[in-house]
Amino acid sequence: MKSVLILYFSRGGHTARISRHLMRSIAAEQCRCEMMDIKEASKEGIDWDEWDAVVFGACVLYGTYDKTVFEFCEQNKQQLSDKAISFFSVNVVARKPEKRQLENNKYLQKFMALSAWKPKDVKIIAGKVDYPSWGWLDKQMIRLIMKMTDGPTDPKAVIDYTDWDDVSAYGKHIVSLLDED
Ligand SMILES: Cc1cc2nc3c(=O)[nH]c(=O)nc-3n(C[C@H](O)[C@H](O)[C@H](O)COP(=O)(O)O)c2cc1C
Repeated sequence: MKSVLILYFSRGGHTARISRHLMRSIAAEQCRCEMMDIKEASKEGIDWDEWDAVVFGACVLYGTYDKTVFEFCEQNKQQLSDKAISFFSVNVVARKPEKRQLENNKYLQKFMALSAWKPKDVKIIAGKVDYPSWGWLDKQMIRLIMKMTDGPTDPKAVIDYTDWDDVSAYGKHIVSLLDED
C-alpha cells in the first residue's frame, strides 16, 4: 500500500478542510494518507522515510503566501524535491475558472518564482469568502479586492467556492502520479 502525506498551511481552516477532503479521496484509492499542518511539521519534524509521496498546499493571503510557507520550502528543499509530487494553491480569485490555469494565476506563478522547491505538478483550488470570521481590516481589504474583481462585497457573505468533486478528482490524479513511480 502506497503512502501519501498532505502538508498544508491554513490560516482560517478552509485549506485544512480541503486537505481533509483530499486525504479521504486518496485513502479511498487504497492508499495510506495523513495530513499535517506545516506549523506542527516544522516544530516536531517529519519522518520523510515513512512516506512514498508528499502533497503540499497553502492559501493565498494578500497576494502571496505566509512567510512560514516559504521558510518551510527553504528548510525542506531537498526532501520536498525528493518526495513532493504536487502543490495546491487555495485562493478566491480562482472562483473564476480561467484563474485556475497556471498561466492566468499570478499567485501560483509567484509561488513558482519564490519557492526554493519548484513543484512539477500544480493545482489551483477556489477557496472561501468568510467575511464574518475575518477581522475589521482584513474584511475591508478583501472587500476591496473583491470589488476590483467583481466579487461579493456584502460584509455578511459566507461563500464556499470550492468544487469538492474536483478536489476528489485531484485526489485520484495524485494516486495516478504514484503509479508513474
Ligand atoms: C487576510 C486574507 C487575505 C487574503 N488575500 C487574498 C488574496 O490576495 N487573493 C485571493 O484570491 N484570496 C485572498 N484571500 C482569500 C483566501 O485565500 C481564502 O479565503 C482561503 O479559502 C483561505 O483559506 P484558509 O481558511 O485555509 O486560511 C485572503 C483571505 C484572508 C483571510
